[in-house]
Amino acid sequence: MRIHYAIMSNDALESAYQAAHISWGYDALAWLLFAPVGGVERLRRQALEHLGVTPATRVLELGCGSGGVTRRLVGLGASVTAVDWSEPMLEKAARRAPAARFERSELTAYTPSPPATFDLVLFCFVLHELDHEARAAALGVAARALSPGGRVAIVDHALPRRGLVARALSRFVHGFEPPSSRAWLRDGEAEQVLRDAGFEPGPRLLLASGLAFALEARRSETRA
Ligand SMILES: C[S@@+](CC[C@H](N)C(=O)[O-])C[C@H]1O[C@@H](n2cnc3c(N)ncnc32)[C@H](O)[C@@H]1O
Repeated sequence: MRIHYAIMSNDALESAYQAAHISWGYDALAWLLFAPVGGVERLRRQALEHLGVTPATRVLELGCGSGGVTRRLVGLGASVTAVDWSEPMLEKAARRAPAARFERSELTAYTPSPPATFDLVLFCFVLHELDHEARAAALGVAARALSPGGRVAIVDHALPRRGLVARALSRFVHGFEPPSSRAWLRDGEAEQVLRDAGFEPGPRLLLASGLAFALEARRSETRA
């Protein structure tokens, strides 16, 4: 399958996320994309079930966007710190999940304070937007944020292997995504990026007819 990618620099991506109505546009696109394959809310619920979030879980959500996942995390009783660089996204997220703590920051520059206090660091549909170096830096932030035994989790786009509808939707959405998503969609790329950052990934759970995946990873014994 040939996929065409929109060219978007990091600066362009950042300014796109500062647009006044970006949160509404993003939510509409997420709803539309996943509606034919079970819906974005089902995807989020299944991902958080897979990650075993409980009221005892202290979560750092990096790239929380408009708070669709933040709201679910808070609903499960987790204590949540949510970070994003987009003010309009954060404003909507704060309305949806007032019990969470929000911080505005570029992800790779974020300093978890105090460090090593989170049980779970979650990247939900974020890492595909970062280039290779920024992904490694973001995982470095995650490593510093995690308490001993904590986990990092990724929920993100995958390239569906079968199904006309899923493949057509994938082709559509990746027309909007930055070029960084091209490498990200390769088989095993997320797992490799995690290993390079000193994490040992578990198996992928495919979601939404293979349009998305969830996986978690722990610090490798040798690097812990
Ligand atoms: C595709 S949205 C996903 C939002 C949310 N996690 C969800 O699943 O609905 C990606 C989010 O990551 C944020 N983001 C992307 N790159 C970032 C960076 N370098 N620093 C901070 N936030 C970033 C964007 O502002 C946006 O809100």
